Amino acid sequence: MAFKSKRKWICLIAVISSFVSLLLHLIVVRFSTVDLLRDNSAADLQDDFASISWTQSVRNEKLAEVMKPLEIVPPYAFSISAYRGDYDSKDVFHDKRIFKEDYNEMKRSFKVYVYPHRQDDPFANVLLPVGFKPGGNYASESYFKKALWKSRFITEDPNEADLFFLPFSISRLRHDPRVGVGGIQDFVQDYILNVSQKYPYWNRTGGADHFYVACHSIGRSAMEKASQVKLNAIQIVCSSSYFLGGYISHKDACLPQIWPREGDPPNFLSTNRSYIELYPKIGGINSIFSLRTKLAFFAGGINSPVRKKLVEVWRNDSEIFAHFGRLKTPYADELLRSKFCLHVKGYEVNTARIGDSLYYGCVPVIIANYYDLPFIDILNWKSFSVIVSAEDIPLLKKVLKGISSDEYLRLRKNVLKVRKHFQWHPSPTDYDAFYMVMYELWLRRSFLRVPFSVPNNS
Ligand SMILES: *[C@@H]1O[C@H](CO)[C@@H](O)[C@H](O)[C@H]1NC(C)=O
Ligand SMILES: *[C@@H]1O[C@H](CO)[C@@H](O)[C@H](O)[C@H]1NC(C)=O
Ligand SMILES: *[C@@H]1O[C@H](CO)[C@@H](O)[C@H](O)[C@H]1NC(C)=O
Ligand SMILES: *[C@@H]1O[C@H](CO)[C@@H](O)[C@H](O)[C@H]1NC(C)=O
Repeated sequence: MAFKSKRKWICLIAVISSFVSLLLHLIVVRFSTVDLLRDNSAADLQDDFASISWTQSVRNEKLAEVMKPLEIVPPYAFSISAYRGDYDSKDVFHDKRIFKEDYNEMKRSFKVYVYPHRQDDPFANVLLPVGFKPGGNYASESYFKKALWKSRFITEDPNEADLFFLPFSISRLRHDPRVGVGGIQDFVQDYILNVSQKYPYWNRTGGADHFYVACHSIGRSAMEKASQVKLNAIQIVCSSSYFLGGYISHKDACLPQIWPREGDPPNFLSTNRSYIELYPKIGGINSIFSLRTKLAFFAGGINSPVRKKLVEVWRNDSEIFAHFGRLKTPYADELLRSKFCLHVKGYEVNTARIGDSLYYGCVPVIIANYYDLPFIDILNWKSFSVIVSAEDIPLLKKVLKGISSDEYLRLRKNVLKVRKHFQWHPSPTDYDAFYMVMYELWLRRSFLRVPFSVPNNS
């Protein structure tokens, strides 16, 4: 009897303490002073993701709430010594030999079946490649499709296909008045339904040997009504953040967001190619540095806690130039005049800045936690970029100044080596962004072939 009543007391205390704890949580939430994300009136959003407003979806706000404490907690994530000596790697590939062998095998044998659609399909604008030259922030999606159509990877025989391409374009759907942002989920659901009824391939694997490609971050919720796509298919997307419910690392892969520029970089203020290759024989280290006079450069809107932190700490600095709002000088000049160019997480983890800095020969500094960088399966990012944890923004100058001239030159040299992987071409060329994405897909193809018509026992 005594034991029983003791238990009752314990239960009562447990109930009371849970109630108090709940109350405390509610108070903390209610009176939290951290409202970094209430910037929704700021016009700065136009910079990266013009069409997305902070209030657009509850899901996004929830996500931001989760991200917030993770992005701004001091103290520093790593001590300064953690950033030393990481830049010695000479090779930009994790394993060049394996990559080259696999790449050749991919070029020889990889086959993709594209669900066919006619020119007079009412959604031809969404399903077929665009008829114009892709431009702007989300061009990667259209470039990929145009390149695929021209490539030898396409097969008309589904039986020899390694993968099946779902050709809908998220960014075209977004602009189609019949669909719009609000109708994308239904469209995709419908499309999968159609495909799974008309063809046997979807049901065969539940979509595991299918893929789609999207750059606009609106795509992150596009599969909400098509969970098989989200869970099984290969998603090649620009917003490859570990925090997005729809992105599954390893199964999915990052599509590099690249502002398209044609041809080779026009001119290097600080070096030209023959010059960098001659070094160090001609010993001109000072002249290499002389025109890259700024230590680091960033331009963009303040649309995230990470950028807010950057401006708080470095706004008035004479070596780290953090511009918010309109630049007075041409963007390209800044990229050419800086040793390091910052890619700082904005509304989403991805921006075109990595591609921008590589194009202009500036060593990228990645300040965007928890995301799959483009081609991370293939490239050794530490050999051509500096990855700094968002918590360590106050250490930024120490980290960058801690990189010796030799290490910097190695990084720069590797930047010039990897640059070709971050360019799209009207007709794809070896090792460019298109072939690299194809390689990522090839790595993810299924070896398992489930026969769709099981032969009758005989
Ligand atoms: C699905 O098929 C129906 C009937 O053919 C068609 O009207 C509709 O546009 C298709 N939907 C999509 C998203 O392809
Ligand atoms: C695939 O599965 C769905 C749902 O079970 C079914 O409605 C559809 O008819 C199947 N498709 C084929 C081609 O058998
Ligand atoms: C590139 O550098 C070399 C070596 O300094 C120089 O001779 C050449 O004129 C430079 N070319 C251009 C286009 O600047
Ligand atoms: C930067 O300069 C502005 C205006 O001179 C000043 O108000 C601000 O406190 C300075 N910020 C920092 C971080 O030093």
